[in-house]
Amino acid sequence: MREKLGRVVPLPALFAGELTIERLAAILEQGGAGFESSLVLADEVVLPDDIRPAPGAPVRSATNPRHLFVTGATGFVGAFLLAELLSTTSATMHCLVRAGSPEEGFDRIRTTMRDYGIWDEHHAGRIVAVPGDLTRPRLGLTDSAWSDLAATADGIVHCGADVNFLRPYATLKSANVDGTVQVLALACDGPVKPVHFVSTTYVFSRFSYPQDTVFAEDDRSPVQDPRFTFGYTQSKWVGEQLVFEARSRGVPTYVYRTGRVAGHSRTGACQRSDFLWQTIRLGVALGAAPTMDMSTDITPIDYVVGAIARLAGQDDLAGRTFHVVSPETVAVPDLVRWMSDFGYAGEELPFAQWCERAAELAEREGDETAAALAPFLSATPLDNMPDATFDDANVREGLAGSGISCPPIDGALLRRYFEWFIDCGYLPAPSSLDLPESAAS
Ligand SMILES: NC(=O)c1ccc[n+]([C@@H]2O[C@H](COP(=O)([O-])OP(=O)(O)OC[C@H]3O[C@@H](n4cnc5c(N)ncnc54)[C@H](OP(=O)(O)O)[C@@H]3O)[C@@H](O)[C@H]2O)c1
Repeated sequence: MREKLGRVVPLPALFAGELTIERLAAILEQGGAGFESSLVLADEVVLPDDIRPAPGAPVRSATNPRHLFVTGATGFVGAFLLAELLSTTSATMHCLVRAGSPEEGFDRIRTTMRDYGIWDEHHAGRIVAVPGDLTRPRLGLTDSAWSDLAATADGIVHCGADVNFLRPYATLKSANVDGTVQVLALACDGPVKPVHFVSTTYVFSRFSYPQDTVFAEDDRSPVQDPRFTFGYTQSKWVGEQLVFEARSRGVPTYVYRTGRVAGHSRTGACQRSDFLWQTIRLGVALGAAPTMDMSTDITPIDYVVGAIARLAGQDDLAGRTFHVVSPETVAVPDLVRWMSDFGYAGEELPFAQWCERAAELAEREGDETAAALAPFLSATPLDNMPDATFDDANVREGLAGSGISCPPIDGALLRRYFEWFIDCGYLPAPSSLDLPESAAS
């Protein structure tokens, strides 16, 4: 549309509903502005009335669990969280995995952990793969698996989610909303199990708040402005609200909001699909960085999972929400300087011009990252995103005396990430780059 009609339409407008020709025409007529999503998120928060602790049901302690039910263990955060829980507790981990059999599920978990360099054979006997699916009734568990877990699990660590910034709420709802309802149902079946819900600071619609807003952990009703949120963040917002509802019905719940979770601060092991790394990869391919007066958050995974595992084991913290984020954000110009120090030197271009270059690269060379990111970048007012601070008083209180703190976010950390990305073939080594003369000098 940008090429043929010279119109830029915000992506959320496209994804707000079924993209029929009629609706597309209406969006174009409105110039993409002022569109109304028919989705009312508050109406989506429906926790069936029978999902509540039975009167007099025993409540499991979060301390020293023997059996934990974990979702999302084949994902980035979940794999590291599983490794951390294996080494900080003696519990057996029953992991929900999309797989045809427990053997296949176990294999998927092991492969993921090996890829991140966190597989420990000594822990293998404490990992039980439970085939299932968040989108299915009763999580797709067999009757016996459900009743065994309902009777024996001491807690639930719900880290699984369909993490996708382009798909609309309607298609993410089954995994991220309905799946959370099922998790809460399991928590209330039999003994009441503490629920640990991994969420995101992006439940706050940053564009809807003034510059430099300080978001408190106990803020339960962040504004959700559909113009500036994605289906994914909307689904996480609804998921959180469901957990809060269960909290008010007596389920011990812990909500951990994290920001951009980045690689391990010592090994650099990192997932590759995050928007930041894709943008950096694109910048390296272009030999150019955007000049942007904004900052971004980067929180190493080892801090995230270390903090969650520590907070999760404390009964007196039940009912709280935690901002597990780095206390400092990184200014984009610093990030660009660290890249340049590492050898990824290039020219600096205004954001709009940089986006155009990305679009050209996509067209010229069919570069996949550029093709995927160019329309997203040019349609999202990233360079106008207000800066925000996420207060983490609950985290500081819960971690007091533990020695767990967020590592410094600096050039040395970025260097470890780049080295990891080069090792796994995601980024080219600087020495292999054909840098423009101006940059090389
Ligand atoms: N990464 C971040 O920077 C970040 C920031 C804030 C919050 N979070 C939260 O952290 C959690 C994990 O994110 P991530 O980055 O680790 O994502 P990820 O790598 O995409 O992992 C998602 C996990 O959820 C599982 N999953 C997805 N749909 C499922 C379904 N229908 N049934 C069963 N399992 C399903 C995936 O299983 P498959 O392997 O089968 O796909 C995978 O194990 C999410 O709740 C996310 O909201 C992440």
